[in-house]
Formats: sequence, C-alpha cells, structure tokens
Amino acid sequence: MKKALITGITGQDGSYLAEFLLGKGYRVYGLQRRSSTITTERVDHLLKEGVELVSGDLIDENSLIRALESTKAEEVYNLGAQSFVPTSWDQPILTGEITALGVTRMLEAIRIVNPKIRFYQASSSEMFGKVQESPQSEKTPFYPRSPYGVAKAYGHWITVNYRESYGMFAVSGILFNHESPRRGLEFVTRKVTHGVARIKAGLQKELRMGNLEAKRDWGFAGDYVRAMWLMLQQKQPDDYVIASGETHSVREMCEIAFARAGLDYRRHIVQDRKYFRPAEVHVLTGDARKARRKLGWKPDVGFKNLITMMVDKDMELVAAEVRNGGRV
Ligand code: NAP
Ligand code: GDD
Repeated sequence: MKKALITGITGQDGSYLAEFLLGKGYRVYGLQRRSSTITTERVDHLLKEGVELVSGDLIDENSLIRALESTKAEEVYNLGAQSFVPTSWDQPILTGEITALGVTRMLEAIRIVNPKIRFYQASSSEMFGKVQESPQSEKTPFYPRSPYGVAKAYGHWITVNYRESYGMFAVSGILFNHESPRRGLEFVTRKVTHGVARIKAGLQKELRMGNLEAKRDWGFAGDYVRAMWLMLQQKQPDDYVIASGETHSVREMCEIAFARAGLDYRRHIVQDRKYFRPAEVHVLTGDARKARRKLGWKPDVGFKNLITMMVDKDMELVAAEVRNGGRV
C-alpha cells in the first residue's frame, strides 16, 4: 500500500485529494494544525474510511520531521497555505511564513528524513498576476500582485531549486482557480452560490461584492487533484500548468448563479469598495497543453456545470439549515 501525506487536508483540495488517493488504494495521512474549533468538516466522512490525521504545522519544522517519520510517507502533497489573497495584505508576514517558508521547511524535512519522497507543491496562477502574456504557460514570467502571490512564487522556485540542487523528485503544479461545493465561503464563487441560496430562501436581500470585471480561468477541484497525483507518477519531475483554458468574468459567474435560482443578479448585488483589492489580478487564462500532452490530463466539468452544481448544493445546504433552525 502506497503511503501519502497531505498538508492542508482540511481544506477544499485536501479533501478531494484524500478521496482520490483512497480510491487508488493509498494509505492516506493528513497533517492537521492545532485549532480550538473543529476543522475536519470536509474530511469527516474520510476519517471513517481510514484517513489518519497527524498533528503538525508548516510553521514548526520539527512537527514536519515527526510527521514524515511516523507516517513513512512516500509521497507528500503540500497543499497547506494561507490561501486567501485579501488576508495576505492584512497578514503578509504570516502568509510568508506559511505559504513561502513552509515549503522550505517541508523540503528540508524530506531531505532529512528521506530524500526519495516525492513532493508536490501547490503553486498558483496568482504568480502570473499582472500577466506578461496570454494565455499563461509554464514559460510565462511571474509578476505577482499580492503578498500571497509573492509567497507562492517563492514556494515555486524553492521547489525547483531543491529539485536542481539535490536531485529530489519535487514538482510544482501551477493551478488556476478551482472551485467546488467545498470551497471556503470567502472565495468569490462560493460567496456567490451561497449568497444566492440565502437570498432565494429569504434570509438576505443583497450580496455585497468587489470587482465584477475581474476574469478568471475556473475549473472543478475534483478534476484538478487528479493532475496533482499524475505529476507524482511521472518518470521525471517537472512543473505543469493546470487550467481549463476558458476565461469568464465575475459578473458572468454571478449571472449564471443567480439565474439558476430564477433570480436577476442586478437586483441583488451591491458593489462595495471594501471588497476591492489594493492591486488586482485582472485576467487569467491558462494554457494546459503540456499537461494534456504529457500527463494525459483534461478537465471533465465545464464552467457552467460547475457553478450550477455549486448553487444546487448550497440550496440544499441552506434548506437544511432553515429546517434545523440555523444549524447544519
Ligand atoms: P484552503 O481550502 O484554504 O485550505 C488550506 C489548507 O491549509 C487548510 O487545510 C488549512 O488548515 C491549511 N493550513 C493553513 N495554515 C497552515 C499551517 N500553518 N500549517 C499547516 N496547514 C495549514 O485551500 P485550497 O483551495 O484547498 O488550496 C489548496 C492549496 O492550493 C493551497 O496551497 C492554495 O494556496 C493552493 N491553490 C489553490 C487554488 C484554488 O483555486 N483553490 C489554486 C492554486 C493554488 P485549517 O483548516 O486548519 O485552516
Ligand atoms: N473573494 C472575493 N470576494 N473576490 C471577489 C469579490 C468578493 O466579494 N468580488 C469580486 N471578487 C474578485 C476578486 O477581486 C478576484 O479578482 C476574483 O473575484 C477571484 O477572487 P477569489 O475567489 O478570492 O480568488 P483569487 O483568484 O483571489 O485566489 C484564488 O485562486 C488562486 C489561483 O489563481 C485562491 O484560491 C488562491 O489561493 C489561488 O492561488
């Protein structure tokens, strides 16, 4: 049985990846940081299927060494991060500690415990920021526009550097935005689909938002975790862009989400300066032809189906909340 350790297992991607690896017959371990509240909502169903949590934090090097020693993981998927872009302006140093230096801590832990461990780094299209060309491929230069993007660029290059310095099997997946019903409520797609469900249920009338003209290349998280695994199964370590290749505006996404519930977004969305960013990434479009060619990867779920799926799930969730007097 192959053994994998996932950092960020309690997050959106961690839960889909754990599910995927279980399906492949892996023994799956997840790094969980200490919290005073329950954070396992997304993986509770998997804990019953044998996923094991080990305590650790990307800020604490020793905890990473212990996690690798105790699990004897052969593959490490580093998905843990402070991943919300606006928070990175409020807490740039913490973001650097976790999202940037956390990568080096894990790479060092691997080098100490077992340099043969295969390592996946969750890099991001946010590194392209103020895009230097369109679409963006593995060869496009980075121009990050947020402390988060800068931290991810560091994480990306330190991964490349450990591969080149020590011959480690360390790869970086440059993933464009990917969403799902398990997406955090603060990210724009989920904020909208959950907002739609609440408006439909009569729990709120308006949804306050930022820049509706920003454009993203959105895909489904379930498709994207498959690419992470494929990257670690190759003969040679390499970096790949993972994207749908399609770009849509936040406005278009709102239109589809509200229409799914029979609503007109123009009647409910209120633009609020509070949600605009100090520096915006205006448009992202990924070129995932290398992943298609070398990994045989392509996404299954298209943009409209993704948003529809998210609205439907949130309508179910909100209906259940209403039935239970506010509790899920
Ligand atoms: P997410 O839902 O925000 O999950 C982040 C995970 O990181 C959570 O499990 C969180 O744990 C964990 N974490 C935070 N700080 C940590 C620390 N100090 N030590 C250990 N774990 C820590 O993010 P996601 O959407 O699943 O994304 C997964 C990864 O892919 C992230 O690195 C993200 O930056 C990157 N990425 C995401 C996208 C996307 O569109 N989703 C695109 C490109 C790259 P808690 O539950 O305790 O908070
Ligand atoms: N969150 C949010 N809330 N975003 C809004 C809002 C709002 O009310 N209104 C407009 N937007 C716009 C943002 O300005 C941004 O241009 C776009 O919607 C997407 O925002 P997010 O969903 O927060 O995602 P992101 O693109 O900043 O970052 C996500 O994708 C990256 C990959 O490109 C995160 O998952 C990152 O961790 C990931 O690396």
